[in-house]
Amino acid sequence: MKVAVEINNLSKYYGSFQALKSLTLNIYEGEIFGLLGPNGAGKTTTLLILATVIKPSSGNVKVMGIDVTKEPLKVRKNIGFSFQEPKALRVDTVLDVLRWHGKICGLRGIELEENIRRIMANLGLAKYSGKMFMHLSGGLKKKVEVAKILIQKPKIAIFDEPTAQVDVIGKHAIWNLIRELRDEGSTIIIATNDMNEAEMLCDRIAIIHNGVIIVEGKPEELKDKIPSGDILEIELERNLTRKEIGLMVEKIGISNFKATGRNIIFYINRGEEMLPIIMEKMNSIGIKIKRTMIKEPTLDDVFFYFTGRTLR
Ligand SMILES: Nc1ncnc2c1ncn2[C@@H]1O[C@H](COP(=O)(O)OP(=O)(O)OP(=O)(O)O)[C@@H](O)[C@H]1O
Ligand SMILES: [Mg+2]
Repeated sequence: MKVAVEINNLSKYYGSFQALKSLTLNIYEGEIFGLLGPNGAGKTTTLLILATVIKPSSGNVKVMGIDVTKEPLKVRKNIGFSFQEPKALRVDTVLDVLRWHGKICGLRGIELEENIRRIMANLGLAKYSGKMFMHLSGGLKKKVEVAKILIQKPKIAIFDEPTAQVDVIGKHAIWNLIRELRDEGSTIIIATNDMNEAEMLCDRIAIIHNGVIIVEGKPEELKDKIPSGDILEIELERNLTRKEIGLMVEKIGISNFKATGRNIIFYINRGEEMLPIIMEKMNSIGIKIKRTMIKEPTLDDVFFYFTGRTLR
């Protein structure tokens, strides 16, 4: 895997306030990488530094091997940035905004027009194409902002909260188009405080809190970092005797469980893999199972485990 963005010991101060605390992170080519964290965590600050909009206080950042402080113009050639708070000129229509963006990114002619048409259709923007950007609702403005980068198809596409304020159908449309962009070869970096979005969309995630990266990995890997992270509920045909419970512990070798009446809850890792094993062993000591259910922890559980706070 080739590194697309290399962040080493990055710190950022706004005056005396330290927004980023020695961040170290690699983002790989061709992945959808998510920075997940609550308001004020430092997501936008990180993205703006990658995009050379603001400067690091210390540490270094390379985008496609190019240093963001030494050669910002070169870095910018590879980047498209969808801002958290979209803005446009007061006089521009949706079509103007998209055409203008395409043109400054070097796109021309039929290819550009076809691209704009396709993205607008996918995002349900076609009927607003002649409307002034400034008169659009928040969710529609966000769609236009995201559309700019989807049309641009940059090597590194950065989306700061790509679906904030967007309705559910719109969210899925945006996620699909972002996946398509990755499949065409772009590296995608998103910031979000929506754990569902992080989980649905991202190949890898870093959870950021108070300017510190707490943990990173694939969504499943993060969940597996919670000890005994899966919850396996089993309903039996009848209550167990004390002796049977003892036998069960001995046979299955899991002591982390709660048995109440006919229900047993196991706290285990890799619940999907363990379930058939547990069922077979229970069967072998004559315990009949009526129903099973595995509950996965969410990324919110992961966030809670590491910070003691919840994202919601
Ligand atoms: N220009 C600035 N001047 C002073 N403080 C700033 C500035 N920009 C950001 N901050 C502070 O830095 C911290 C990180 O802000 P940042 O915008 O990076 O967070 P975020 O994770 O993007 O949050 P959100 O989810 O609300 O967008 C916050 O405490 C914020 O108040
Ligand atoms: Mg932000």
